Amino acid sequence: MAPRKIIIDTDPGQDDAVAILLALASPEELEVLGITVVAGNVPLPLTAKNARIICELAGKPDTLVFAGCDAPLKRKLVTAEHVHGKTGLDGPQLPSPKMALQSKHAVDFIIETLRDEAPGTVTLCPIGPLTNIAEAFLRAPDIMPRVQEIVLMGGAYFEVGNITPTAEFNIYVDPEAAEIVFKSGAPITVMPLDVTHKVLTTQPRVQAFRDMGTEAGRMVAEWTDFFERFDKEKYGSGGAPLHDPCVIAWLLQPALFSGRKINVEIETNSALTLGMTVADWWRVTDRAANALFIGDVDANGFFALLTERIRRL
Ligand code: RIB
Ligand code: CA
Repeated sequence: MAPRKIIIDTDPGQDDAVAILLALASPEELEVLGITVVAGNVPLPLTAKNARIICELAGKPDTLVFAGCDAPLKRKLVTAEHVHGKTGLDGPQLPSPKMALQSKHAVDFIIETLRDEAPGTVTLCPIGPLTNIAEAFLRAPDIMPRVQEIVLMGGAYFEVGNITPTAEFNIYVDPEAAEIVFKSGAPITVMPLDVTHKVLTTQPRVQAFRDMGTEAGRMVAEWTDFFERFDKEKYGSGGAPLHDPCVIAWLLQPALFSGRKINVEIETNSALTLGMTVADWWRVTDRAANALFIGDVDANGFFALLTERIRRL
């Protein structure tokens, strides 16, 4: 079977980095048409630099990386250096990338790719704020029905918020963009904190990366060692939740996950609950189901897949 065509939209971030490595380590299943970067965890110049560092670490310097939006559609950018560090990839010392950034804007790449590829053959994998995706849909509404699936990391229901009491970071940074995406009519699969908080980088799992004896394994171990501070302090958890790799793991082994097709709306008005994903998990409204909202995962199966793939790099 031909590999699935995907565009990864990202704001690297240590967990984004692991997701990108997982995708680039799986060429039989996934054809990464391009990586589009967005401002989020850190400002755009850094996310654009970090994406290229990650591609070079994966041994894939020919990957096309496009810079996108440097701020949300209507709001001031909120970043997360408190989680990811000043560079966005704090932990190990990293060389600056040699590979060039593409000159085309990320939004143009998304629009042109969806128009050029056959309808229903390109999957969008947003793992940061949804600004690039929403901007593409605003500028070219004709591409929305051409999307095969949107598999995104964002939102929360039982886990509620990680940046405010009610909102998850990716949705909170650009709630208007999220509203556009969730109303687009494209098939959507959501990896919320409800599931990502179940894939924690416990010490034995981090040691497995270190024991690989490869540069990629060492980097993943050092990134997760840095990245886990925030969640350990806040939640007292046994490690860092590997949020973004859940999106790629879904594409590789969907049977690892379970969830419900439900209605998900985005709060864009209330200052108190801005960016909340109002997920009708118990189907108490008659609002149409617009997303497969994932709630559970086989965590050991997830790490077995991740470790086997990272070992290939
Ligand atoms: O809330 C977690 C999400 O916010 C992840 O995508 C992480 O990389 C940050 O972007
Ligand atoms: Ca991210």
